[in-house]
Amino acid sequence: SVPKIKLNNGSEIPAIGLGTWQSKPEEVAAAVAHALKEGYRHIDCAWGYGNEKDVGEGIRQSGVPRSDIFITSKLWSTYHSRVEECLDQTLSNLGVDYLDLYLVHWPVPMNPKGNHPVFPLLPNGKRDVDHSWKLSQTWEQMEDVLKKGKVKAIGVSNFSVKKLEEILPTANIVPAVDQLEIHPYNPQHELLAYLCSKDIVPQAYSPLGSSGSPLLKDDVIQAIAQRLSLQPADVLLGWLGAKQIVALPKSVTPARITSNLHGAVAGAKKLSKEDIETIDGLATSGKQQRFIMPPWPVDLGFDNWPDK
Ligand code: A2P
Repeated sequence: SVPKIKLNNGSEIPAIGLGTWQSKPEEVAAAVAHALKEGYRHIDCAWGYGNEKDVGEGIRQSGVPRSDIFITSKLWSTYHSRVEECLDQTLSNLGVDYLDLYLVHWPVPMNPKGNHPVFPLLPNGKRDVDHSWKLSQTWEQMEDVLKKGKVKAIGVSNFSVKKLEEILPTANIVPAVDQLEIHPYNPQHELLAYLCSKDIVPQAYSPLGSSGSPLLKDDVIQAIAQRLSLQPADVLLGWLGAKQIVALPKSVTPARITSNLHGAVAGAKKLSKEDIETIDGLATSGKQQRFIMPPWPVDLGFDNWPDK
């Protein structure tokens, strides 16, 4: 079975979950059903991905009981002042009556009454960011839906140290996780050390470097893979597992979905301490690179973003 990682609320999260960002609605139900049949017990979703109804369909198709699955979703940015409303839509889309984990998707509240429900813009073409709304207010509402029992744990995504420090002083509940772009070209060593000091579990999105990734073709990764009789993807996922980081590889290809689960477990077992250190150092040898840009300008205080 898949290894688990303990969260600060006492529950456990499967260390490997299926990512669903950019999975087309017509593909994602089959991908989710396949993943669950193959042994995945953790699905990562978001209101903003626009495919939650199909993810829910896949969960039902799999025949795996709801209570055996760890389901995460995320609050979209136009809903920071309406947490329960966004959550209720997600629950109804997925066809479930609770989530295992609910995250603030981005530390950027956007105007709920703007000119577009998902990406409101100002007349000058910039994102319509709601600067009057504080992240601590969002977090208060996150704590409320937790208290109501609609979600079992709450956390954040794309939060830097600076953004975490906007909520921690008034938080009654410390976020259980921070979901970030983590892979050997963007290892975020300092942020991870901070998360560890606060007992916040890191989760890695785009662990393979997203689509068309140069990471899978990296010489060092390929050499390690060959020596250990692994696929390059297994090395990338195993590196995360060995560091107790939750990996969320996305795929809609059945064979890859299956191999990512088994490869992640095998990779974490086979990588030596030296291999892990070598991979830890890749980004410092001029390979630092982020593949996912935020859907707004980086002038909003993302102090963990290397381009800032
Ligand atoms: P697909 O969904 O068509 O199978 P990430 O998780 O970093 O966002 O990467 C997802 C991308 O990597 C997708 O384009 C996915 O393609 C592809 N992918 C997923 N698993 C593997 C794998 N084991 N080997 C190669 N590419 C993969």
